[in-house]
Amino acid sequence: MTPLYTMRSLAFCCLLLAPLAAARELQASGCTQVPEECTKVDCNGVLKQECDEASGRVTCVCQSAGLASCFPGAARVALPGGATKPMSELSLGDSVLAVGPDGRLQYAAVVMFSSRRPSQRAPFMRIHTDAGLNITATPGHYMFGWKAEQAQAAFAALPSPAAWPYVLPTQLEVGDLVPVVAAVAARAAAGGGSPALARVTAVERLSGEGVFMPHTLTGTIVVDGVVASELTSIVPPRLAGPAFQRHLATALRTACAVLPASAVEAVVRVVSSWAHGTPDASLSYAALTMAAS
Ligand SMILES: *[C@@H]1O[C@H](CO)[C@@H](O)[C@H](O)[C@H]1NC(C)=O
Repeated sequence: MTPLYTMRSLAFCCLLLAPLAAARELQASGCTQVPEECTKVDCNGVLKQECDEASGRVTCVCQSAGLASCFPGAARVALPGGATKPMSELSLGDSVLAVGPDGRLQYAAVVMFSSRRPSQRAPFMRIHTDAGLNITATPGHYMFGWKAEQAQAAFAALPSPAAWPYVLPTQLEVGDLVPVVAAVAARAAAGGGSPALARVTAVERLSGEGVFMPHTLTGTIVVDGVVASELTSIVPPRLAGPAFQRHLATALRTACAVLPASAVEAVVRVVSSWAHGTPDASLSYAALTMAAS
């Protein structure tokens, strides 16, 4: 058998077996209710049936090439003054709580959405922490985290976000450590508070509505009190990290210094449409130029 033939038959087998495996998985996960009709609404990717463990109901979710990596519409960001706002109401140019390169909290402008689809349903994971702060993100969205036994290293690394390890929600386990920002610290952030560590107490799978991926150029964003990255698994694990984030920020800054707004936005649309399956990226040239200066 030639390698090409083997590859083709393997691919064919997987295609045939995938729905069977999916059905088994749904049964095993305790979803009992009849699946809803899956309609191809607002989905350029793969429609899948997912079990929502909370409701015990099967729902149809859109996996855009398996790469769409974002937060649901109900996830909240913190605004200057201590108020919060759901992703679904967030606009380009809004300032949101993030962590600066010095490890201090700062407010940074949203310069870009690489994904902004309010009505799309997608599979999410919710990471619960012992700080009572729980973040919900797609399985392919990079978070920051340390293994349970690395508490000392995690504590030492807190002041330097450039050294924080990127992990996917699927890699986080009970006992692991993630950076969080308690409500009080958020209010004090004008004076430059800093994140603390919390332990993961549970990892839950659920489906949610809306996929939003705002970018601030700091590489971090505080969502529901947990510090998350602004990178997704479209960046391979061995490349994901502060260096990639720095290059991305530099590329965007350079682009906006030498190209007209429409050209920068067009490039971002092409990349985002490849990454997320739909060309729904948007960019604030004004906010980007300001963040860049
Ligand atoms: C986070 O989840 C825990 C259960 O793990 C719950 O008690 C807590 O209220 C949740 N926090 C928020 C802010 O919803």
